[in-house]
Amino acid sequence: MTVWSRIVGTGSYLPARCVTNADLARTMETSDEWIQARTGIRQRHIAAEGQSSSDLALEASRAALASAGMQASDIDLIIVATSTPDFIFPSTACLLQSKLGAKGAPAFDVQAVCSGFVYGLTIADKFIRSGQYKSALVVGAEVFSRILDWNDRSTAVLFGDGAGAVVLKADSGPGIMASALHADGSQSGILSVPGSICGGKVIGSPFLQMDGQAVFKFAVRVLEEVGRETLAQCGLVAGDIDWLIPHQANVRILEATAKRFGLDRSKLVVTVDQHANTSAASVPLALDCAIRDGRVKPGHKIMLQGVGGGFTWGAVLVQM
Ligand code: UT7
Repeated sequence: MTVWSRIVGTGSYLPARCVTNADLARTMETSDEWIQARTGIRQRHIAAEGQSSSDLALEASRAALASAGMQASDIDLIIVATSTPDFIFPSTACLLQSKLGAKGAPAFDVQAVCSGFVYGLTIADKFIRSGQYKSALVVGAEVFSRILDWNDRSTAVLFGDGAGAVVLKADSGPGIMASALHADGSQSGILSVPGSICGGKVIGSPFLQMDGQAVFKFAVRVLEEVGRETLAQCGLVAGDIDWLIPHQANVRILEATAKRFGLDRSKLVVTVDQHANTSAASVPLALDCAIRDGRVKPGHKIMLQGVGGGFTWGAVLVQM
C-alpha cells in the first residue's frame, strides 16, 4: 500500500511587539509610502530581548500539536528550518524538543534560508513515505531582527520575526503530492550574512546583505519554474490549484508569480503585509493563517513555495 504524508495540524506564533512602517520612519530615513509601494509591507513583529527562535518555535509547535490532537511524545521526527538558530550548536530542533518535553525522536535543523521550510517539509515527507517514521513536526522559526543592520534602510524595513509549524502523519491517501528542491551556490553573494565566529570574534559581517533587484528577478523566474515542475509531476496545471502560498518576501514578487501561472490574485495567500519577510517561517505562517481564517479547506490543493539565500528554491504541492 502506498504511504503518503498528510498535514494534520498547523500552528504559528508572532512575538507581541508589532512595529509599523510609521514606527520605523521615526528612526530611519524611510516612509510608510515607500515601504508599502515597493514591498506591500505594513508592519512586522519583533521578538523581545532574550526571545529566541526555539521560543517562537515552541509556541507554534504547541498550536500545531493542539490542532492535530497530538502530544509531543507522539512525534517521530522534528525538523526546524532556521537561519537564526539560538546557538551555533546544539541545533534549535534539539532545544525545541527539550522545551516540548519530548525525548528520543531525531531532531535536526535545516539551513536553506527562506526555502528552509519547503526543504524541511520535503525531507519529512520522504521519511514518512519510506515508512521509517509515522509522524513529523516541521517548523520554520526566525528572529531575523537580530541579523539586520538597523542603520541600513534598504534591508531593515523588509524583515520580521515569527514561527510556523505543521504536523505530518502517515496516511493512505495524499497529502503531499509532489515536491522539488533546487540550489545554485554560484548566486550565494546576492543574499547573505557573510560572517563567522573565530577565536571569540566575528570575522566578516554579522549583518544581512542583499542585492535586492537581483534577488527579485531570480525569485520570480525560479518560483514559476519550480511550480511548473511540481505540477507536471502530478499531471496538473496551475488552474487546478486552489491556493498559491509562495514565500512572503514582497507582494510584487507574489503577484508576479501568480500572474506567470495565470492565476487570479484572489488565489494568492498574502501575509507579507502583516508579517513582513519572516524567512523560513513565512510559508507555514501564511498556511496557518489561511487555514484558521477558513480560506484553505479540506480537499483543497495548495502550492507552497520557498526561495532565498543560497540561492535555494523549492515547491511542495499538497492536498489538504
Ligand atoms: O527572501 C528573499 C529576500 N529578499 C527579497 O525578496 C527582496 C527582493 N527585492 C525587493 O523586494 C526589492 O528589490 C526591494 C524592496 C528590496 C527594493 O525595491 P527596488 O524597487 O528594487 O528599489 P531600489 O533598491 O532600486 O531602490 C530605489 C530607491 C533608491 O534610491 P535612489 O538611488 O533611486 O535615489 C534607494 O536608496 O529607493 C531607496 N530606498 C529607500 N527609500 C526609502 C531603499 N530603501 C529605502 C527605504 N526607504 N527603506
